[in-house]
Amino acid sequence: MFEEIQPAPADAILGLTEAYKKDPRPVKVNLGVGVYQDEQGHTPILGTVKEAEKRILAAAKTKTYHSISGTPEYGKCVRELMAGEGHELVSGGRACTAHTPGGTAALRIGADFLKLFAQDATVWVSSPTWANHKGIFTAAGFRIKEYPYYDAVSKGLDFEAMKKALRKVPAEDIVLLHACCHNPTGVDLTPEQWKEVSVLARDAGWLPFVDFAYQGFGGGLEGDRAAILALAGEIPEMLVASSFSKNFGLYRDRAGALTVMASTPERAAAAFSHVQTRIRVSYSNPPAHGGLIVQTILSDASLRKEWLNELSAMRNRIASLRAHLVEGLRAMKVPGDYSFIQKQHGMFSFSGLNDQQVAYLRDQKAIYMVGGGRINVAGLNDSNMKYVCESIAEAVAQKK
Ligand code: LMR
Repeated sequence: MFEEIQPAPADAILGLTEAYKKDPRPVKVNLGVGVYQDEQGHTPILGTVKEAEKRILAAAKTKTYHSISGTPEYGKCVRELMAGEGHELVSGGRACTAHTPGGTAALRIGADFLKLFAQDATVWVSSPTWANHKGIFTAAGFRIKEYPYYDAVSKGLDFEAMKKALRKVPAEDIVLLHACCHNPTGVDLTPEQWKEVSVLARDAGWLPFVDFAYQGFGGGLEGDRAAILALAGEIPEMLVASSFSKNFGLYRDRAGALTVMASTPERAAAAFSHVQTRIRVSYSNPPAHGGLIVQTILSDASLRKEWLNELSAMRNRIASLRAHLVEGLRAMKVPGDYSFIQKQHGMFSFSGLNDQQVAYLRDQKAIYMVGGGRINVAGLNDSNMKYVCESIAEAVAQKK
């Protein structure tokens, strides 16, 4: 059966990390995968995570199965983080949350659930989007189409084109939206623009599926809720995929959640029962550890406060790296205005480098970035900044 099988292409993002690890060159820089790194290039375990783990270990009494969708306590923590304390979505019964192994599983389970009831729907994704979005929805059997998003000339959002396209999306289709820190561009909608999109979604009738992987990395926890709050205020139904890989640094512990919102608690419960059947035939029930960490931190006032400081420190470091990168490129006299890098949100900068320049940087300079020119800004530090800026200057001069 396996004799004729040819190898699959390497993953566009995680495959880069593998190639980077294997690269024997002494000076190399990984600006590929979206993982936070400190000044030393490490991805540390947050202090609050260590403390939560100690408490979890001390209190642990069993390793019995979780329920299919995890615990109600975890679900409530997730919705509170997503919508804010006291919001109707937290305890009103109209939103049900499943604990999933990371945001990727939340997206896939959401897609599998939707495929049960919207077999012929098309999933609309932004142009561009996270490479895995297309993979996930295609694997679930959906047709994919793109709506305009990024304007390569202004290096910002093409909001008029986006709205024009979304107005024409049929009511039975699904639109994937990035709540904040758009991946890969770092270009986000303003709260006012989210309100416009929400009204448009209400009038057009399509279903929003919101990917919320970077809460806290854009405008802080509250600021980053703008998309969720605007949509929840206008429309009766949506799906939200949350990830705690980045904001809690729990990458390998796979902590995430899928929240299904419906017009009434009864409809939400009925829909959610099908989410549970999709989980059961996929991974049966979620791994407990990562979710317990999130729940422990969010349920303890002092740990929560400390975690907010840790999150702000990560966000502020990335903001200062953006400023240094712009200064560095200016100092190297790289042609063009790179100040747009400071306007982008989250870990990523869509640098404007073309695929040839990206290939040059990888082949000649051992600097790894995702095709299309996405840079993980958090991979920069004082030791590699000059090398990266010099190398970009060289790449731009050689491969116009
Ligand atoms: C990324 O875009 O780099 C991250 O979301 C990691 C991943 O799974 O691709």
